[in-house]
Amino acid sequence: MTFDELKEKDSQYICSTYGRYPLAISRGEGCRLYDLDGKEYIDLLAGIAVVNLGHSRPELLETINEQYKKLVHVSNLFYQEEGVALAEKLTATCGADKVFFCNSGAEANEAAIKLARRYMRTVAERDAYEIITLEGSFHGRTMATMTATGQAHFSKHYQPLPRGFKSVPFGDLEAMANAIGPQTAGVLIEVIQGEGGIRPLSEEYLLGLEQLCLERDVLFMIDEVQTGMCRTGKFWAHQEFGLAPDIFTTAKPLANGLPMGAMFATIEAAQGFEPGSHATTFGAGALMAAVASKVVDIMLEDDLAARAAEVGDYAQSLFRGLQDKYPSKIAEVRGRGLMLAIELTHDGADIWKALLDKGFILNLTKGNVLRMLPPLVIEKRDLELFALALDGILAS
Ligand SMILES: Cc1ncc(COP(=O)(O)O)c(C=O)c1O
Repeated sequence: MTFDELKEKDSQYICSTYGRYPLAISRGEGCRLYDLDGKEYIDLLAGIAVVNLGHSRPELLETINEQYKKLVHVSNLFYQEEGVALAEKLTATCGADKVFFCNSGAEANEAAIKLARRYMRTVAERDAYEIITLEGSFHGRTMATMTATGQAHFSKHYQPLPRGFKSVPFGDLEAMANAIGPQTAGVLIEVIQGEGGIRPLSEEYLLGLEQLCLERDVLFMIDEVQTGMCRTGKFWAHQEFGLAPDIFTTAKPLANGLPMGAMFATIEAAQGFEPGSHATTFGAGALMAAVASKVVDIMLEDDLAARAAEVGDYAQSLFRGLQDKYPSKIAEVRGRGLMLAIELTHDGADIWKALLDKGFILNLTKGNVLRMLPPLVIEKRDLELFALALDGILAS
């Protein structure tokens, strides 16, 4: 099938919810992707922070094969070794005690919101239901997570929206302190806003927010759907500042491309759930759980958190070199680990397209932010090639 034929069938058969890039990917290996004509691309996006171990990992293929032959899915009516083994491994990487497994980031956040409300009603015995998020945040596309998302354009035309959500200005602790009231169940933030353009919250803000949540007796919740699992140079981004959230979530990288999400809770917060209070058919099916277990093993064995920190620092030094060379074109270089952004001083659509034509896959957010979330196994050489290509484009 040619690209044009595929594009036409896509618009004929698939609901038009996506503004797609002018490219069809047919194959991936490591940090390389190939289009229908076999043209090679360097993948600096990893399926938006998903394929953190790179494409077509032989170890994962082996795990999939083995597990598929043994057991794929039986439902959560039964005890299963794979899910328990994964939960044990994951809780050992952080301060949480318990996990609820699901299938996506939105579902993980939905679980967090439900747990916060239910904890308040059934454990704290308070009529507290409100979730406060930050402007510019992104928490998913279900009705609740879309409403929690602090960007009004995502919920346009979907009214009436669920009640009990509020967004306050990014990085403004006073605004948060003023917003928290007796009706507040929890605060949900991203340590670094992803969709919002790779915007990190300061250490001062994060520590202040944690303290504020403690003082006001509301749950401190962190969305690590994009930042989690070694992306920012720690296994979890919140560990950079020694934060201890009551609840946090992840999804994208958990099974390296197979759909899986997780919500983590302290033993205290987890009391808000009891049998029948929340569920999902596919959560931690044996196949997904076995793959995610292998992902965690590889991340820990290869210390991908340290690698992300080192390679990410190197990438930032390359990008800062470009900023020094083109101060009128690059406004800012920012990020942590391999969650990186180059903010341009002007609309970036042409630059993004020129990079694509030269064989580099990345994402443009907010119209002028080149966002990079490469596989954590990316070679420094690939980043040098990217910087060289961007240099050539900015020079012309
Ligand atoms: C921080 C964050 N939370 C939640 C989500 C939603 O995840 P999903 O698309 O898997 O539902 C995303 C997706 O981009 C995200 O970046």
